[in-house]
Amino acid sequence: MNQGNFPGGFPNHRPRRLRQSDPIRKLVRENSWNNTKLILPFFVREGSNIRLPVSSMPGVFQLSVDELLLELENAYNAGIRSVLLFGIPDEKDDRASQAHSVGGIVQKAVRALKQAHPTLLVITDVCLCEYMSHGHCGIVDMERKNVENDSSLEILSRVAVSHAEAGADIVAPSDMMDGRVRAIRTALDGAGFASLPIMSYAAKFASSFYGPFREAAESTPRFGDRLSYQMDYFNGEEAIREVALDIAEGADIVMVKPGIAYLDLVYRVKQTFQFPTAVYAVSGEYSMVKAAAKAGWIDERAVSLESFFAMRRAGADIIISYAARELIRWLKELE
Ligand code: PBG
Repeated sequence: MNQGNFPGGFPNHRPRRLRQSDPIRKLVRENSWNNTKLILPFFVREGSNIRLPVSSMPGVFQLSVDELLLELENAYNAGIRSVLLFGIPDEKDDRASQAHSVGGIVQKAVRALKQAHPTLLVITDVCLCEYMSHGHCGIVDMERKNVENDSSLEILSRVAVSHAEAGADIVAPSDMMDGRVRAIRTALDGAGFASLPIMSYAAKFASSFYGPFREAAESTPRFGDRLSYQMDYFNGEEAIREVALDIAEGADIVMVKPGIAYLDLVYRVKQTFQFPTAVYAVSGEYSMVKAAAKAGWIDERAVSLESFFAMRRAGADIIISYAARELIRWLKELE
């Protein structure tokens, strides 16, 4: 594998993207660990005064924007400095129209968060599944029941640009269409956002560990599965190729997802590319710990810390976790 090779070079690669602000510098800083490298996901939905518990993820809620701001207050005080936003629109269709609307739920949430907390690092998940009536991450040819690649790229690019216009600091495409990083990079550059970083879900597997997320984001596919676009878990080498492609296309930060069961790949990706590497400890990982802890079968704090350090040992620079708030507290207790 090409070590330290940056196919494409400038303008796909602009190392200054990751130097532009204090929160971004801290997110990717090497040889240091602190709360700024933990990212807490949020699910935001239309309406007001809404705080709906996600039954399969104790402690996680679907929040309206006003409630998100309150929750953020609490999270900020607990040391959270980076969030990842998922939107649940009121209306879904087969073109994911709400995903790139100026008045879309994520766009509204980004504007509100950045206004309340200008230094909060707001990362947006760029995908279509929550906005599609069929629940797939791209445009579907209904006759052939095929998730189309190239026609999805244009919509994904519009989603990314609309998030940037709302004030997002980083966009994180999670759809796994081929070529989306290049398409999004080109669209962002064309819209005046050449310095906006892309954190790509580069090695994202078709995983049963996402089960609880689909309740949280209301994004279960209506038919079929995601095996034609997300990766096959039999494959490790392919993950390296996926990451290489995303880096070539202009990804600034690469991600492996899920977390604990895929640490071999976190290690290989970090060793191979020496790029800022994120890992996503996904919904199922969180829910299993919560459920077993509730039954009194495991010690939540001990297991969570052990998993955290396993991810760090494998080489993860950035960790996305629904337990980010608690982890910050538990890590402080270790000092
Ligand atoms: C959207 C998306 C998913 C997750 C992150 N972005 C669901 C999926 O691919 O089905 C999963 C996150 C989690 O399980 O916590 N495509």
